[in-house]
Amino acid sequence: MAHRWTVSSVYCPYRRLLQFPGHGGNEDIDELNNPADPAGTPLTNPMFQSIDLPTQHAQMLNLLHEERLALLDGEVSHARALLEQLRELQEMHIEDEESGLIPYLPESARWHARVYLAEHRKLSAMLDELRLALKPLPARVPDGTTRLALLDIHAPFRHVLEHHFEREEKGLFLEVQR
Ligand SMILES: [Fe+2]
Ligand SMILES: [Fe+2]
Repeated sequence: MAHRWTVSSVYCPYRRLLQFPGHGGNEDIDELNNPADPAGTPLTNPMFQSIDLPTQHAQMLNLLHEERLALLDGEVSHARALLEQLRELQEMHIEDEESGLIPYLPESARWHARVYLAEHRKLSAMLDELRLALKPLPARVPDGTTRLALLDIHAPFRHVLEHHFEREEKGLFLEVQR
C-alpha cells in the first residue's frame, strides 16, 4: 500500500509530534508521549512519520477555487472531478486530524474537541450536498443563470471551510504541541 504521507519543506508547527525515533524523529518525542492512550496513537505508530496539514489546507482551498472556476466556465464535468478530489483529500485530512491531533488537545484548549468534530461532520455533509447538486447536470452548462446559481450554493461551504482552517491554525495545530 502506498504511503500517503509526504515530507514537505513547508514549516509544520507540530511536525515533531509526528516524527519518531528511528523514523526521522527527534529527542523531544518522549516528553510528548501520552501514557494514558497507549494503543496505536500517532505518537507510537510509525506510520505517522511526517504530515503537513497546513499545506493540505491550502491544497483544499485551491481545489475549491479551481472547481468554482470550472463552474464559471460551465464545465460541470471538470467541476465534478475536482469536487471528488476535494472530497478524497478532505476525508483523509479529517481522519488524520481526528486520530492524530484532536485526542491530544489539552484541557486548556481555546476550542473543545467537539467544536472541531462538529465542523468536520458539517463540512463532510456540505460537500456531499454540493456533489449531489452537480450529479444530475450535463457535462456542460452554457446557461449563465444556472452557472451563477451553482456558484452561489458553494458560498456556505467555502465560508465554513475557511473558518475551520483558520480555527485549526490558531488553535489545534499550536495547542497539541504545548
Ligand atoms: Fe479539521
Ligand atoms: Fe485541518
